[in-house]
Amino acid sequence: MKYAVLSDIHGNLEALSAVMERLNAERIDRYLCLGDVVGYGADPAACLERLEACGAVTVGGNHDVACVGKLGLDWFHDTARAALEWTREQLSFAELDGLRRLPLTATEGPLTLVHGTLTHPERFEYLVDFAQAVEMLERCRTLMCLLGHTHVPLFIEYDRPQRRIVRVLTVAEELRDVAVQGDPATRRYLVNPGSVGQPRDGDPRASVAIIDTDQRRVAVERVPYDVAAAQRKIRQAGLPAFLADRLAIGR
Ligand SMILES: [Fe+2]
Repeated sequence: MKYAVLSDIHGNLEALSAVMERLNAERIDRYLCLGDVVGYGADPAACLERLEACGAVTVGGNHDVACVGKLGLDWFHDTARAALEWTREQLSFAELDGLRRLPLTATEGPLTLVHGTLTHPERFEYLVDFAQAVEMLERCRTLMCLLGHTHVPLFIEYDRPQRRIVRVLTVAEELRDVAVQGDPATRRYLVNPGSVGQPRDGDPRASVAIIDTDQRRVAVERVPYDVAAAQRKIRQAGLPAFLADRLAIGR
């Protein structure tokens, strides 16, 4: 099976369209989305529609669930809160109901999906240290756990019998083609595909992961898109200018 893994699209239709076009060149069997489809960007409804059109299995991110009141707006800083209030106004009842129904975790074959951490999906914690990663990998019941939220790509390989992390990849060149060679009986993997619509690793290009479970490979790809168009729409919508500015620098 070949999976496309998208996360943190954040209403950026220009980025999502470029990624989808790139994925059309692959024979993708299943589209997966790790949450934060909306919030920040100017096209929340269109992004939800594109995901639905490809039958993506989607889990809720903090921005998605906050749109429907399942997470308080006081959780967010001022810029995000302003964008969420704007986003709510753009969505139909049906679209909001779709967000309300998103599960916080999902399993698809050998893959477990979550936005923040598997330990406390409802808290939307950021994965920032190895202790959290180990806790998550111990909890994971499938070969791989896929997560988003930090907007930064990451690959971790974990040896379960030894209870230790044996490989960590964060560099783009290394993430472009990762061989998953370990014995599935003893290994667990954690993969963050980075963010489609608001990368924060200094590379403004959209980020997406392709996981081929037959070839046993993970590839995090960067896709250029029309950043200026996305910025223009954010400014025209009256959303905070910072949200447009940051897209150009990938921070
Ligand atoms: Fe996000």
